[in-house]
Amino acid sequence: MSLRKKLLQGDKEIVIFGAGYIGYSTAAFFARKGVASTIIDIDPQKIEIISQGRTPYKDMETWIGFDVKPFNALIKATSDWLKVILRGNPVYFISVNTEKDGEPWDNALSDVCSKIAKDPGRPLVIVESTLAPNWTDNIMKPILGSRAKIAVAPRRDWFTLPGMTVETLDRVVGATSKKTLGQAISVLSIISTKIHSASSHRVSELVKAVENAYRNIGIMLGYEISLAYLNTNIREVLRLCGTKWNVDEYYPSIGIGGYCIPIAPKYVLSGTEIPIQLFHAAMDVDRKMPRIIAYRLFERGIRTALILGISYKGNLKVHIASPGLRLADALMDQGIKVSIHDPLYSREELEQLSNASPVDYPNSTQNIDCIIVACDHDQYKAIPKEKLYETLEGCKRILDCIGIWAELKDKFKTMGIEYHLVGDENWL
Ligand SMILES: NC(=O)c1ccc[n+]([C@@H]2O[C@H](COP(=O)([O-])OP(=O)(O)OC[C@H]3O[C@@H](n4cnc5c(N)ncnc54)[C@H](O)[C@@H]3O)[C@@H](O)[C@H]2O)c1
Repeated sequence: MSLRKKLLQGDKEIVIFGAGYIGYSTAAFFARKGVASTIIDIDPQKIEIISQGRTPYKDMETWIGFDVKPFNALIKATSDWLKVILRGNPVYFISVNTEKDGEPWDNALSDVCSKIAKDPGRPLVIVESTLAPNWTDNIMKPILGSRAKIAVAPRRDWFTLPGMTVETLDRVVGATSKKTLGQAISVLSIISTKIHSASSHRVSELVKAVENAYRNIGIMLGYEISLAYLNTNIREVLRLCGTKWNVDEYYPSIGIGGYCIPIAPKYVLSGTEIPIQLFHAAMDVDRKMPRIIAYRLFERGIRTALILGISYKGNLKVHIASPGLRLADALMDQGIKVSIHDPLYSREELEQLSNASPVDYPNSTQNIDCIIVACDHDQYKAIPKEKLYETLEGCKRILDCIGIWAELKDKFKTMGIEYHLVGDENWL
């Protein structure tokens, strides 16, 4: 009987390393198709939550588009990896994090490979994590053995847009042999509807890094143009450029965050000796952006600032390469007193993450020279107008990265506040 059939009939289950957004959602999508899984993670909290039949991520169900509860019985979680491995499993998913502090990081990948290597059989290993070029050949194969059946099937999900999931999005898969590719596709097609096969694992490794590096370059070019033409509404220029059939729409912001786009050039560069100058230039723009903003705001007389949102995207509690935190540091270096707020983080968490002072917004904030909306959390959009205006007493300038308060621009003007979307005319 094929592996696919065994999984669908409940004779076999999948094992997933990593109970993060990616690993847990893999388990959820397979469970909905009737396939059982065991998730292995080193985080006892996540194990406990999943073992209690709960979903560890707020709002995940909005994104994946279904309620996981009816399928919870099919999702187990443990940290007792040896017990799971020694029973022998036909298929492993690797969904652990592969970046740390903004750099490609392979420790977790190496660790889980050394654990999978103890499986008594010859399992199929499907990697969902983002890999740097050559990690399959240089890291995974030496640990798993040259006969290892490895498929590289990176994820492309966009967590804040419902429906942009592993089920609906095109998925690229490459493998260490043709037979392994066929096996991987037969398993992945249980949950993914659009699969593109790559001729090798090396190709699919690079696809994920290169596609995000492309976006990085486009975004950074937009940022730099917005600095070069401060007197022109570059936001509008970029939006209108995006109306051309073959041009993507980008908008300027205070920096890019998250696991993928900021470090994609680093993943690509890590596999080659040949410098790709465009990537170095783009990374330089991202590095200098917060410093330039801080300098210009100081020049405009800003001495106190409040940053709203340290998550890298709205309604998601992830602060990797956080633009808000990076700007807070640059503002403080410039001599500006900075407060921070994020409804998804406790005061203690904010204190651990930044030297800026956490505040209870919108309940206790007044006389701040500049408010920077770094993230479009729903809580900020939902502040009643009168309450919002109260918090703006003494405010001179609002810098809004996304435009959540754009329709209030005229009212702000009557209050003596200059409101700008990042990249609009005279935004800095
Ligand atoms: N989140 C995204 O937007 C996204 C999108 C596409 C691809 N990816 C990629 O998918 C991978 C996972 O992303 P994520 O968002 O789920 O990350 P995450 O940080 O939410 O989860 C990773 C999980 O792996 C666990 N882990 C770390 N080391 C481990 C080990 N040695 N053994 C077992 N568990 C271990 C962590 O405790 C954590 O629960 C990354 O490579 C990421 O780049 C992420």
